[in-house]
Amino acid sequence: MEIINIAIDGPAGAGKSTIAKKIAKKLKIIYVDTGAMYRAFGLYCKRHNIKCSSDEVNSVLDKIDISIDYVDGEQQVLLNNENVNEFIRNEEIGNMASEVSANKNVRIKLVELQRKLAKKQSVVMDGRDIGTYVLPEATTKIYLTASVDTRAKRRHMELQKKGIITDLQSTKDEITNRDNRDMNREFAPLKKADDAIEIDTSHLSIDEVINKVISIIGK
Ligand code: DC
Repeated sequence: MEIINIAIDGPAGAGKSTIAKKIAKKLKIIYVDTGAMYRAFGLYCKRHNIKCSSDEVNSVLDKIDISIDYVDGEQQVLLNNENVNEFIRNEEIGNMASEVSANKNVRIKLVELQRKLAKKQSVVMDGRDIGTYVLPEATTKIYLTASVDTRAKRRHMELQKKGIITDLQSTKDEITNRDNRDMNREFAPLKKADDAIEIDTSHLSIDEVINKVISIIGK
């Protein structure tokens, strides 16, 4: 059977994971959340008191094994064989992931796993450098974006649903800082691939975005 690889990139809070998950379900292929892998790396650093932006990270690369598994269709990230899904979905770890992801050696290690996954099966993979670096030959490349205000509001509501009360302005500041770091790092920064199709989701519903993506894949 033909293997298809769909790359979805974009800044924090643009709706990548929501859309990627639903597209994967529709196409009956797997969803690979690459951000979760960088988050697991960030968690390791937190637990071992390692500054994510320091060279100390290079000395623990060999001690870190990250892999993924699926339970009821949901991706589980294993850090040295421990399922860490429940520990990585917070803003602190998101920021640590962004910091540690600027380390070239960390990226090389995780990109190897991401490429292997995409080579053996059809995937919808989301991240920051999927269309530009991880899967430059992807079948379809989508760049999802939205205004920073929209993304901050979405993130704010998401956190509120989890019972976490934050200030909208600080959420906006955090998103802006994270984007700046992800876009300005030296190695494989976040940017739209030349052949990616950009969708601004600021004024679109989830279903509208999905319909657009499906029609792009169809073409
Ligand atoms: O998508 P996310 O919020 O889970 O990603 C967390 C951080 O990980 C993000 O700010 C930058 C980094 N990341 C990356 O550099 N490359 C990817 N392919 C995915 C995530």
